[in-house]
Amino acid sequence: MSSLPLQIKRVGVPPIKCQGIKTKLVPFILSQIQWQVQPHSIWIEPFLGSGVVAFNLQPERALLTDTNQHIIAVYQAIQQQRITGAIAREFLICEGEKLSEIGATYYYQVRERFNRTGSPLDFLFLNRSCFNGLIRFNGDGRFNVPFCRKPQRFSQSYITKITNQVDWAARQMAGKDWEFRVAPWQEILQHAKSEDFVYLDPPYIGRHTDYYNAWDHLEAEKLAAVTKTLPSGFAASMWLENQYRKNLHVQTCWSELEMRVCHHFYHVGSKEIWRGEIAEALLIKPGYATNELKIEDLRLKIED
Ligand SMILES: C[S@@+](CC[C@H](N)C(=O)[O-])C[C@H]1O[C@@H](n2cnc3c(N)ncnc32)[C@H](O)[C@@H]1O
Repeated sequence: MSSLPLQIKRVGVPPIKCQGIKTKLVPFILSQIQWQVQPHSIWIEPFLGSGVVAFNLQPERALLTDTNQHIIAVYQAIQQQRITGAIAREFLICEGEKLSEIGATYYYQVRERFNRTGSPLDFLFLNRSCFNGLIRFNGDGRFNVPFCRKPQRFSQSYITKITNQVDWAARQMAGKDWEFRVAPWQEILQHAKSEDFVYLDPPYIGRHTDYYNAWDHLEAEKLAAVTKTLPSGFAASMWLENQYRKNLHVQTCWSELEMRVCHHFYHVGSKEIWRGEIAEALLIKPGYATNELKIEDLRLKIED
């Protein structure tokens, strides 16, 4: 079992995409935390999203939760081998061909079907063919992201990439004591014990206001207050500043902690045109932070 810090050389990519996915920050996050794993230690991640942090860490025991039941359903299906790489491949070939023949109308038919049945395979299809890989649900809990407008989306190579990601996720969790659960963060933090470690990656305040992501100042302040009382180690990811503004919530609610900062660049398209830099903070409970930070090693190029 991996105690932390870990030097990750190659970041694995999971099959689900979501807003705020930490793929590029995994090496930074796992290199800044110091956590000595005990036989019963649990890695607790109450805002799982794509799961990229836990999947790369591969803890022996984990409690991986999110309020989004559809994300959790995909990972439960992979864990129980109801979805394998081969099953995903067959499904995406079949549905991808229909998308290619019928076009956008077919995407919206699958979206309608998913909103009736909640099928995890349909969710995977939509997540990988919707606009910008967004996950967004309306007030009634219906997925409402439009089509990416590429009827040929599910090319052979794209399907292979997705099925490899499903197989990779399955390998990372194989034989491990991991529980995937639908739950709000308050319920999950009650489980944290002194030997555990909690990694928090809540939504950006005020940015996402959909069914699963209603995250406002009050919720963010409650999270900070409860987290500071935890008997376990913890670390929280927060954006710190960009060229236009600072995240005042960090100063107001997360002071007295160890702060590590990683400058992260967004770029547009396949050409590396820097669009903007954002400073991402990792706020770590005192006693659980490492000292070293090699920024240049962290600017990895990762293909999602
Ligand atoms: C920023 S994303 C996490 C990204 C993740 N670390 C990754 O790298 O993919 C935040 C997640 O929190 C979930 N979430 C929002 N409100 C929540 C709540 N009250 N309790 C638990 N999870 C919540 C969302 O569904 C979303 O998946």
